[in-house]
Amino acid sequence: MKKILTIVGARPQFIKAGITAKSIRKNFKEILVHTGQHYDANMSDVFFEEMKIPKPDYNLAVGSGSHAVQTANMMIKIEEVLLKEKPDGVLLYGDTNSTIAASITAAKLNIPVFHIEAGTRTHIFDMPEEQNRIVTDHLSSICFAPTQLSQDNLIKEGLENKSFFLGDVMYDALLFYSKLADEISDEEYISKLMPLFGQKKDVSKGYYLATSHRPENTDDKTKLINILDALNELDKPVIFAVHPRIKNFIQSQHDKYLNIFFVEPLTYFETLHFLKNASFVITDSGGLHKESYLIGTPCVSILRNGWEETLHNGWNEFVSPNKEQILKSIYERNIDFNSIRDGFGDGHSCEKIVEKINDFFIGE
Ligand code: UD1
Repeated sequence: MKKILTIVGARPQFIKAGITAKSIRKNFKEILVHTGQHYDANMSDVFFEEMKIPKPDYNLAVGSGSHAVQTANMMIKIEEVLLKEKPDGVLLYGDTNSTIAASITAAKLNIPVFHIEAGTRTHIFDMPEEQNRIVTDHLSSICFAPTQLSQDNLIKEGLENKSFFLGDVMYDALLFYSKLADEISDEEYISKLMPLFGQKKDVSKGYYLATSHRPENTDDKTKLINILDALNELDKPVIFAVHPRIKNFIQSQHDKYLNIFFVEPLTYFETLHFLKNASFVITDSGGLHKESYLIGTPCVSILRNGWEETLHNGWNEFVSPNKEQILKSIYERNIDFNSIRDGFGDGHSCEKIVEKINDFFIGE
């Protein structure tokens, strides 16, 4: 049996690896490596427990640092594991520093890299994620595009021969785990929400869901304040899941924002539940605005660019971190709620990806 070494490190990658492992482990021996990029229990452990993701075989515990320090530390430790395990291929997800560290290290050891969520492009080159994706796609042996647009980007970059559009594993995850998440009632989800700071808010009559963690919005506090000011003016309370990056700032400001219910980062099941039931989602997360579209809740993305597929029929809009723009996007946008939302595959991407990896080894 061929050996696949999967490397993850950040929250969205645990979800993707969790669903893909179900197909991978039927066909290959999988070794799971956690770089430790996300290390707080509610950014990491909770996902492994709730989604029953196999325990990582290695935890490299790299933690935080500047981009160079974090990525370099990962590369050194990943190389040691690769030399010891000698896998037949390395499986990677998305665009984080864990992804780029792993792709460079594996490629230099001539180990084939399989990249899931390849070809996504914002064409904004000062975004670390854009840099991470471009390098990883070009170093990979197979690029798995989640959408036709991503596939088109790969073709434009001359990667046609190794690229396949087989759908989005995140959509597989959403379909599979929504069923489990729905076993818990709305009252139970709401009653479990604990205030991170200040008072508990009554969200029983409706709410918005918000997150913010992108350095481009959070490093400059005037932008973050603009976002918070907009949320504070909304006509319903806002459940705001606080990323560790902004926790200290929120602690110092929370009493100015009486309409915002600040909570710890949500688990995946909680995210799916509140996403589905919120009136609107306001976020700068690359994953959340796509999930919001797939689940059928309109979204305001405080991003310069992202999944353009989600813009159809007004489901999503990209706006600046500006109070007026955010409020206008919520109150004045035309949304066709009856329109079909598709383009991310048929919910069976994991099986198709595994089949393609099998073919790759047969053809070697
Ligand atoms: C990373 C990814 C981003 C992804 C996001 C999902 C990169 C460049 N960015 O961003 O694409 O959307 O994960 O959440 O890889 N921290 C903690 N505890 C943790 C994790 C982080 O305190 O468990 C703090 C640290 O101070 C750290 C900061 O948050 O410096 C940011 O973490 P980092 O891993 O650099 O990036 P994210 O913003 O989470």
